[in-house]
Order: sequence, then C-alpha cells, then structure tokens
Amino acid sequence: MFGLTRVRPRRLGRAAAALSAGAATALLTAPGAAAAVPESVVGGTPTTTSAYPFVMQVTDASGKQFCGGTLVAARKVVTAAHCVAGESAGGVRVVGGRTNLHGSDGRVGKVSGIWVDPDFTDAASGSDVAVLTLAAAMPYTPAPYVSAADTSVYAPGSTGRVLGWGTTAEGGGASEQLRTATVPVMSDTGCADAYGSDFVASDMVCAGYDSGGTDTCQGDSGGPLLVGGVLAGITSWGDGCAQAGRPGVYTRLATFSDLVTAQLGS
Ligand code: ARG
Repeated sequence: MFGLTRVRPRRLGRAAAALSAGAATALLTAPGAAAAVPESVVGGTPTTTSAYPFVMQVTDASGKQFCGGTLVAARKVVTAAHCVAGESAGGVRVVGGRTNLHGSDGRVGKVSGIWVDPDFTDAASGSDVAVLTLAAAMPYTPAPYVSAADTSVYAPGSTGRVLGWGTTAEGGGASEQLRTATVPVMSDTGCADAYGSDFVASDMVCAGYDSGGTDTCQGDSGGPLLVGGVLAGITSWGDGCAQAGRPGVYTRLATFSDLVTAQLGS
C-alpha cells in the first residue's frame, strides 16, 4: 500500500500529489482504522512566521501553496525533491513571512533554479531533497542545518519540531495558519518495524509517537524537522497521518548536507 502513496505524487504533479496521497491511503485503510486521528500539522498548535522566520511556503505561480520549505541562506530554500521534481523554475514561488495561506504580507520570491538530488526517484526510495535558488534575497533569518558529521540530532527520543500548512487530519483540508508540533525522533529499528524495506536508514529518519496522534500530513512535505533549532530533516512521507505505528518519515539531512552546501554558491 505504500506503493500508491509514493508513486501517485509524481504522476499527478505536486499540488495534486500533496493533497491526494492521503486520500489514496485512506481508501486503502480498513474502515474505522483511521477514525482515531485527531486535529492538526496533525495534533499541533498555531504559530507564526515571526516565531519561525525561515519557514517558507512553496507555491505555484498562482500562489497556491503545495509544500513547505526552509530558508538556509538568503537565496536558498531546502525542500523535498518530490515537491519540485519535474517542475520548471518559472512555475514555482517561495513565500516568506506569511503566517496565513491567504495573507498578502511577507515576500513572494521567484525561483531562478531548482536542484533536485540526481539520485531521487520517489520519496520512499530516499534522496528526497531539493534546493531552490531565489532570484532575490529573502529578508528573513535563515535556519542553520546539520553538518554531515552531526548525527547526534538523530538520537532516539530527541525532540523534533515540525511545521507546516498541511492538512490537520488525514484526508482533511489545509490549515489557513502555520502550525507546529513536537515529535520524538524514533530509532532506526522502530522505523524499520513500521515500514520494512521502504525505510532506507541512510536517507531517512522517522519521528512520531508509538501511539500516533501527532504528525505531519499532506501539504507539510518539504518543510522542516528541527532538532535543537537546527534543520535536521525534511518532511517526506508516511502511511496516512498520525496513525499508531505509522510515524512520519523525514529526509535524513546530514546525509545530504554536503550536497546542499555545494548548492549554496550558485
Ligand atoms: N507526502 C506528504 C506531502 O507531500 C507528506 C506526508 C507526511 N506524512 C506523514 N504521515 N508524516 O505533503
């Protein structure tokens, strides 16, 4: 069943991808099995881009948000490869400083370049990382990101913070306001127990509670997993949202840190 969740996004294109993957999973879930899913990011609280100035909306040219991203330099935004693979720079915008989806504040940035990890095929195979280059600098403080050697952030039980405008329940609607939640980093063993061979430990890290209830969800992809205020992961995939035994899966950014750094010069 993970096959559908991960393959559909690329066939449907990003906006449809982010919002339909949950529905696809829901259809495959036994009736009643998803009924315990509570509110927001799932299980989160509202926050602002003033509190998290590096959190960016990734939108289409008409301003419709379909993913999140993290400003890591004045003109560089880290997001998920599955959000932007196959897109042309002219069809993507980055919006900073805008807490509400339908606000008009903040800054709309045109994208002049899209780098997608050349090994990326689909989120459940790994390498789900991309860097957007902006035509002009964003006037917001970037987030620090993990170095290649920085593996301590993935210690099981570390507190991760996730952020986004994604759906507040599996199969639900997008959140008008930016939301955030904390989720514990899970051990590789725990993640492999949940996802079997779909979990690629070199490229991914899981976060979430064994009992579920709090998670990222469709539309949050590309946004940050912060550990100790440092960007450590990118929202990538999951089986449904916030279900027990089905943690969120994040790109293990330390693995791709040097590749990201190599993009900062251009
Ligand atoms: N693939 C989704 C997106 O494009 C993110 C899903 C995260 N799912 C989860 N259970 N944490 O927005």
